Amino acid sequence: MYPFWELPFFTSGIVIALIATFHILPCHLATGAFWFNVYIERKSVKENRPELMEFIKRYSLLILVFCFVIGSLSGVGIWFAATVASPRAISALIHNYVWGWATEWVFFLIEIAAIYVYYYTLGRIDSKSHLMLGWLYAWAAWISMVIITGILAFMLSPGEWVNTGGFFDGFFNQTYWPQLFTRTAFMIGIAGVYAVIVASTMENRKVRDEVVRKAAVWGITGMIAGALFSAWYLSKMPGPAKELGLEGGLPYLQAMLKWAGISYLVVLVWFVVCGLIKPQWSGKVSGILILIVLFLGIGAGEGFREGVRRPYIIAQYMYDNQIVATNIKAKGISSEVDKYNNEGFLNNLYFRPDNINMESQTDRLQAGRVIALHQCGNCHALDINAKLRPLPALLANLEPESPEDIAGFLEALGDYPYMPPFAGNDDDRAAVAEYLFWIVRR
Ligand code: HEC
Repeated sequence: MYPFWELPFFTSGIVIALIATFHILPCHLATGAFWFNVYIERKSVKENRPELMEFIKRYSLLILVFCFVIGSLSGVGIWFAATVASPRAISALIHNYVWGWATEWVFFLIEIAAIYVYYYTLGRIDSKSHLMLGWLYAWAAWISMVIITGILAFMLSPGEWVNTGGFFDGFFNQTYWPQLFTRTAFMIGIAGVYAVIVASTMENRKVRDEVVRKAAVWGITGMIAGALFSAWYLSKMPGPAKELGLEGGLPYLQAMLKWAGISYLVVLVWFVVCGLIKPQWSGKVSGILILIVLFLGIGAGEGFREGVRRPYIIAQYMYDNQIVATNIKAKGISSEVDKYNNEGFLNNLYFRPDNINMESQTDRLQAGRVIALHQCGNCHALDINAKLRPLPALLANLEPESPEDIAGFLEALGDYPYMPPFAGNDDDRAAVAEYLFWIVRR
């Protein structure tokens, strides 16, 4: 285990959720936008309508700045945050999928080079070559999604990989295709939202209304296809994920799905009303409001996708607290739960407080705190006022009368379908129980 990244009150999970939700906006725009861009540019060239190029100019500048400055920064932010929050999980993914990421980064490089060349050669090279650059960007960007989706889907449904350890066995798993189709459809929807907003700033009213309408049609198509593919995705989720997310195992996940659905409907209605019927209503104000709705909807949707994986960070393989859950013979990986149960968790912790004397209460509390951070801290805050499932409050609800009550609760922790079993020996459990009882009583 690496040292635990503790964030008082705010917890690492919330930081990652915020960065990742924000990142979806630029990254899905980056992958979806150019299909619409190329469509408009082709129209402009074929029908000899130079006035449409005003849109191309504005839209590609938005993509350049929003996706490749802000989007890149938030992408790096996810890597940083995820690496310090769950170093072992990131390491496990890299050990399996380093060539996946390497391939993705090749397409990233093509994408980044293409957008710069595309933007700065606008109107400076012949239109056929310029269109080719647009196509190059559109394909490269989408292919980067084709690759990253495999790794994301692997985390929920690693498929045959658990038995074979094979790269493609894990990559093309049961949720891969539905997730790829859903993301592809929603990327068109998200690109449509931005296209409507950008088109609404165009000066020529007639052209503006025409482009807004076209963008709305793209957006609506993407949203409707996305809803159908989402239903397919939900039906393909593994059984335990369905129980948690759809059948009420964790009620807050159902609520998230509901909120994602509501914001989806709001965006759809906005497309129809402010895009198709009254394009003149599609100004910056309604645009910014709809971006906020989109952000919240994505947060709920992605939160649901991540949440149904509990208690795993990589399904069947590694728990959210980064303890290896099972043997994966093909990879020479063995479960750590039995090991910690027999040898003790604290004994095996490399970064542990020095010279702990279990006779001293202060030391025992300190030891209990470290174990609790490692085993509960990725899903629970330890401060009473914190936002993410604060343990003092949750435990207080169970009305424990002694540390032994809490130790008993810990022994049965794995009976909850969404929590990993406590991994450690009696000493570990007693130390955590004493610490947790202390924070409940404090
Ligand atoms: C994989 C994430 C995860 C880990 C790790 C985890 N929990 Fe939980 N825990 C949850 C979730 C999710 C809930 C449900 C909270 C809710 O209903 O919103 C929960 C609920 C609880 C509750 C309330 C139970 C009830 O029936 O009301 C307690 C107490 C609790 N956890 C203690 C712990 C302790 C102690 C640890 C560490 C030894 C731990 N949890 C580790 C995810 C986790």
